Amino acid sequence: MMLVKTAFVVIIIAIASKIVTFFLGALSKRRRLEKALANFPGEPRHWLFGHLHLMNPGKTGLDKRVQWTNKYKYGYPYWLGPFHAYFECGHPETVKEILSTAEPKDDLIYGTVRLWLGDGLLLSTGAKWARNRKLLTPGFHFEILKPYAKIFNECSKVLVNKLSHLCERGSVEITHHASLVTLDSLMKCIFGLDIHCQTESKMDPYINSVSELSVLVIKRMYNVLHYNDFIYYNLTSDGRQSRRALESLHAYSNAVIRKRKSLLGTNQATNQVEGRKYVNFLDILLSVKDEYGQGLTHQEIKDEVDTFMFEGHDTTASGIAWCLYNLARNPEHQKVCQEEIDELFSRKGCTDLEWNDLANLTYLTMCIKESLRLTPAVPLITRITTRQIQLPDGRTLEKGLPIRINIYNLHHSSHVWDNPEVYDPSRFLPEKVNKRSPHAFIPFSAGPRNCIGQNFAMSELKIVVALLLHHFEFSVDGSKPAEPMSEIVLRAKHGLHLFLKKRQ
Ligand code: HEM
Repeated sequence: MMLVKTAFVVIIIAIASKIVTFFLGALSKRRRLEKALANFPGEPRHWLFGHLHLMNPGKTGLDKRVQWTNKYKYGYPYWLGPFHAYFECGHPETVKEILSTAEPKDDLIYGTVRLWLGDGLLLSTGAKWARNRKLLTPGFHFEILKPYAKIFNECSKVLVNKLSHLCERGSVEITHHASLVTLDSLMKCIFGLDIHCQTESKMDPYINSVSELSVLVIKRMYNVLHYNDFIYYNLTSDGRQSRRALESLHAYSNAVIRKRKSLLGTNQATNQVEGRKYVNFLDILLSVKDEYGQGLTHQEIKDEVDTFMFEGHDTTASGIAWCLYNLARNPEHQKVCQEEIDELFSRKGCTDLEWNDLANLTYLTMCIKESLRLTPAVPLITRITTRQIQLPDGRTLEKGLPIRINIYNLHHSSHVWDNPEVYDPSRFLPEKVNKRSPHAFIPFSAGPRNCIGQNFAMSELKIVVALLLHHFEFSVDGSKPAEPMSEIVLRAKHGLHLFLKKRQ
C-alpha cells in the first residue's frame, strides 16, 4: 500500500514539475516575444486569446487583417493566445528583406503536414534544402516542362467534355472539378500514370488518400488541441484516419518508385503523350546526381513526390477556380479573353495549345495574374528569422522571431494598390508593372525559397482556363455567393458555384 502511495506521489510530482516547466518555458518565450515586438504597435490584445478571438478565417477576418496592414504599414504583432506571437507583415519593403534569404519555416502550420511530406523541399532546411533545391531546379526547366503542355491539353479536354454534360443541370461547383483536373495532370507529370481520376467514380487509392489528407489537415489546423502529434495520431479519430491515409499514401508512392526504378533503362520506362516522349518528375528524381556523384535516397525521392503532389494540386486548383469565378463576375474581361483565345485557335486551325502559344495569350495572362492578386491561391506563408533584419524605417526584427508574410494583405494593401478590391487586369500592363516593387505581387512567394513549380502552375492555369473559356461562358450563381476562407490555400467556404453556357 505504502509503495502504491509513494508511486502515486512520485507520478503527481513528475506531472506537476512537467506543468511548471512548461509554464516557465512558455512565460519566458512570451517575455522574449514581447521584447522583440515592443517597437511594433498593433491592436490591443486579450490576456488569454491574444488576437485569436478577433479573427476568423472567413471574409470578415481577412478584411480585418487588411485594415491592420493599412494602419500599421510595415507590420504588427499578431498573438495566437497568451504565449505565441508572430510579426505579421504585408508591405513590399518588409517582405523583400525577409524573403531575400532562405529563412526556415515556422512549424506551427507546416508541422501538421510533416508526417505527410517528410523532409521534402517545402519543409527541409539548411544544407539539405540547398542541395536538393539545386538538384531539382533543372527538372523545372522549360525544356522539361514544354511537353507537359500536351498533358494539360489532354486533361482539360476531359474536363470540357465532363462539364458539357453537367452544365445543363444547373450551376456547377467548380473547385471540385479544378481539383480533379490538377490531380489528373500531376499523376501523369510526376509518375507517368494515367488513372482517369476525372471520369472514374472509383478513385485511385493514392488520389483517395491525397483528397482525404487535404481535408483532415485543414480540420486539424482549426483545433489547437490536435497540434500535438502524440495526441492527434493516438487519441483522436481524425488522427487515426490520417494515419491510415498516410500509410496507404506512402505505400503507394513507395511501390511506384520501386517499380519505376526497376523499369529505368528498359523501353517500358518511356512516357508518351499523343505519341510524343516526355520525362516525368520521378525519372528526374531517380537520375539526378550532385557534384560528388551522389543521387537522392529512396526516402528523399518519396518525400519530394509527396511534396509535389501536395504543393501542386490544391494550389493550382484554387488558382483555376478563383480565376474562373473572377472572370464570371467580370464578363467584360471574360469576353476579351475569349476573343483572344478564339483568334489564336482560328489562326492555328486547331484547339490545341502548345507551350509557345502561351506567350501570345497576353490578356488571359493579365487576368490570371489579377486573379492571383485578388484571390491568391496561397494566402499566407511563415518564416523564422535566423538573423536580425533591418526594416526601411530603421526598426529591426530580432533573430528567432516567427513571421507571417500575409500575401493576401499585401495584395489588398492600400499602400500598394489603388482600389485594391476592384478586379482590374490592366494593373499587369508592362508599364504599370515597371512602376511597382517586384515584391508587391508575390503569389508564388519570392527569393531563394520561392515556388519551384511556378512555371508549371502558370502554364497549366493558362491551358485549363483557356480551353474552358473557349467552350463555355461563365456567370456566377447569385443564390450561392462565394465566401473566401484563408486556409493553407484560399478556398470558398461553400464552394464556387458557376453557371456554364456552351458557346457556339
Ligand atoms: C497556382 C499554383 C501555385 C501557387 C500559388 C504556389 C505557391 C507557392 C508558394 C507561395 C510557395 C512558398 C511556400 C512557403 O514559403 O512556405 C511555394 C513553394 C513551393 N511550391 Fe508552389 N505554388 C503553386 C504550384 C506549385 C506546383 C504545381 C508545384 C510542383 C509541381 C509546386 C511546388 C512547390 C514546392 C516544392 C515549394 C517549396 C519550394 C522551396 O521551399 O524550395 N508549387 N509555392
